Amino acid sequence: MEEQTSTRTVIGSAPGKLNLVLRVGKPDNKGYHPLYSIFETVSLRETCVAVLRAFPEGGLDNFSAEIAFTPSGYPVRVRNKADLGEAEANRIAEAALADVEVATHLAFKAASLLVELAGERGCLPNGYYLDLTVIKRIPIAGGMAGGSADAAATLVAVNELLGLDLDSSALEVLGRRLGADVPACLTGGVSLGLGYGDHMTRLDKDISNELAGTRHWVMLMSATGLSTPAVFTAFDTSDRGRSEIPLPTQTHDILEADENLKTALGTAAEIAEILENDLQATAFTLRLDLAETYRAAKETDALNVVLSGSGPTIAMLAQTQAHATALAKKMQNHPNVVATLITSGPGLPAGVE
Ligand code: C5P
Repeated sequence: MEEQTSTRTVIGSAPGKLNLVLRVGKPDNKGYHPLYSIFETVSLRETCVAVLRAFPEGGLDNFSAEIAFTPSGYPVRVRNKADLGEAEANRIAEAALADVEVATHLAFKAASLLVELAGERGCLPNGYYLDLTVIKRIPIAGGMAGGSADAAATLVAVNELLGLDLDSSALEVLGRRLGADVPACLTGGVSLGLGYGDHMTRLDKDISNELAGTRHWVMLMSATGLSTPAVFTAFDTSDRGRSEIPLPTQTHDILEADENLKTALGTAAEIAEILENDLQATAFTLRLDLAETYRAAKETDALNVVLSGSGPTIAMLAQTQAHATALAKKMQNHPNVVATLITSGPGLPAGVE
């Protein structure tokens, strides 16, 4: 086993997302909200380079700040690299990453679940540690599921690295334990998420190759992140949050009848008509700068504009890639926009290289 594992590297990646439609119901007794979410994953992806390395001579002390231990004591090292394509965006990401403890990193938590499973199955080599390098291309705390994509990329990479052979539905079950958006990042494409937004139906599975990368988006990155729990909590006391609009709960109730689900697979002009986000008004109340950015984006010739998830990233829908470039140019000097990230959707599911 030692010869085989000492040099083994597996590279996993997973897409970020935006929500074409996000409807939010009343929180349950755990404080979690039932969601109806049509996810579009995008070409911005997080990468996890997973390596099993033999313990160095002298132990792991030299990088103790980068190490956390799984419940059974297996060491996992996590390093981050910001690769958002713009210097200012990278600087902001690096500052945010400096505050993230290894033990709270979703990549560590994802790896930890699989390491424990490998331990139970007796296929975890002694004298090694798991070394993860996470390459971040998605804004942190941006409403684009960057942390969840880290978890999804790590799940697929470590599953293969440790030879666990878990199938996609087993990974989805584990993903759900890590965060409500992790299943969407695993699934890729355009998907409907019910439950907490974590029970997935892939909508474009028959046409995914035709559709992949056909929508062009400009993501307006904000200098500061927004806490998802804070947005959900504020939503609960808003007019929309207190209203009694029921959400569908069963996929089979809605798959046939729901026109939005068909439109979500249409052209850019068609999806422009359905963009909607229940959290948007609340996020704008919490952050007036976002309302300003949104208004400025709406004044361009973008097909439509919507807040991504719980924000603060704002998504502008373009007609073509050239149109996206032109829109990014119009918005890049806006005082509230720290970087414009051009991306396309739908994205590919999480997978290994
Ligand atoms: O699942 P995840 O850890 O990504 O969720 C972050 C936070 O978002 C939760 O702590 C919760 O406050 C909120 N949330 C929610 N209902 C959901 C998903 C997330 O209230 N369906």
